[in-house]
Amino acid sequence: MSAPSFIETLRNAFGDCVCTDAVSLRTASSDWSGRYGSCSAVVRARCEADVVTLLRLAQEMRFAVVPRGAGTSATGAVLPSGHAVVLDLSAMNRILDIDTRDMVAEVEPGVLTQRLQQAVEEHNLLYPPDPASSDICTLGGNVATCAGGLRAVKYGVTRDYVLGLRCVLLGGEVFETGGRNLKDVSGYDITRLLVGSEGTLAVVTRITLKLVPLPPARSTMLASFLTDDGAFQAADLLLANGVWPRALESMDAQALRLAAAAVGEDVEEAVRSRLLVELDGEAHAVHEEQTRTMTMLQPFSATLTLANDAGAHARLWRGRRAISSAVLNISPAKRSEDLGVPRGQLAAAVTELRGIGEAHGIGVLVYGHAGDANLHCNFLYDPAQAGAPERLEQCVQLAYAAVLARGGTITGEHGVGLRKREALAASLGPVRSRLMRAIKRVFDPDNLLNPGKVLPEDCA
Ligand code: LAC
Ligand code: ZN
Repeated sequence: MSAPSFIETLRNAFGDCVCTDAVSLRTASSDWSGRYGSCSAVVRARCEADVVTLLRLAQEMRFAVVPRGAGTSATGAVLPSGHAVVLDLSAMNRILDIDTRDMVAEVEPGVLTQRLQQAVEEHNLLYPPDPASSDICTLGGNVATCAGGLRAVKYGVTRDYVLGLRCVLLGGEVFETGGRNLKDVSGYDITRLLVGSEGTLAVVTRITLKLVPLPPARSTMLASFLTDDGAFQAADLLLANGVWPRALESMDAQALRLAAAAVGEDVEEAVRSRLLVELDGEAHAVHEEQTRTMTMLQPFSATLTLANDAGAHARLWRGRRAISSAVLNISPAKRSEDLGVPRGQLAAAVTELRGIGEAHGIGVLVYGHAGDANLHCNFLYDPAQAGAPERLEQCVQLAYAAVLARGGTITGEHGVGLRKREALAASLGPVRSRLMRAIKRVFDPDNLLNPGKVLPEDCA
């Protein structure tokens, strides 16, 4: 592939911050979806002025730009194609302000989520959104996908904490939306429109995030059940009886063993499902809620373990966070779908998804955010096996149809990216489809900003 003519212009504008070596291009052309794209250069932005310059040049010279943080997208949302330029924002990683009176943080997009969480805790504040990959994903990426994660059942998702954004449009125009106001109904909510837009509308250079007081106490419990749906029944029981955990995570028979293996724990053969429950609040309230939780869970759980020191707590969460990558220890390949359904349909939907897998000879492993009814349904298959990729595709399409028929969603938290754009387009209906395409054109009429993501390529 010969270098496109704009590379020299990029070198003049960004000097050493432009990379065109094979390793940089290959790295910038991959993400956690397991797919590869292609690009002609990577620009490592140091500041907003770099973003402005690149987006101005992109309009003048008509090249596509794909913004990128840590590249943990599970859906191909940051995969470039053709001669696109990848805009790497990971070096824009300053925490600009933690304001304890306004209870907000101002950050650049490349800040790792866990770094902000730890920084605000020193001020007795909590940044609640907590994707399982918090130690390696960036806040810019969280905004781009409206990341959910482990504490959404009580605290909500990224969009519930984004108060304001500073952004750059394709062409280089800078604008701000929202600010530090907790309440603001002045016009259309552009801030919320941008959250979850997967870098297709504007490039975010600064984020204002809402913080909440750090709950002084927490209690973490792991309940094991001898039935496949014991964990779902337990989750229903707790919520129906007024227990409001900050995390309510279920694991099926395979997933719980992966989590256990990651921390060196042996699990009895009879255990079929597990529920990880974490409560938080004032110490006396947590104590009372913990007693009620244990009273409710004890009658039908095989074992109930309380993580009563920091080590035990860390181990439980380390195991849980390890599941996603550990799936590949037991299967040559996986397709992880973050499907969601209305809460009341969770157990029935999982039974249906298992049936779909079984009928097609594809393994099904399910774990995730039971409290939000947003589960990671992993289809396990061997791509080398004759017909397996085709059977997998059939399973995925049937799974989408199954959750949509229940009023659910094809993506609860990972986003659409490349992987689900056709499925999204098929599910939108004519009016929503027309509105979404029109919105894209208003922000990016030339379709140069992360083209081909969320909406199929023909959208401009
Ligand atoms: C998790 C990621 C895959 O919850 O979203 O583990
Ligand atoms: Zn998740």
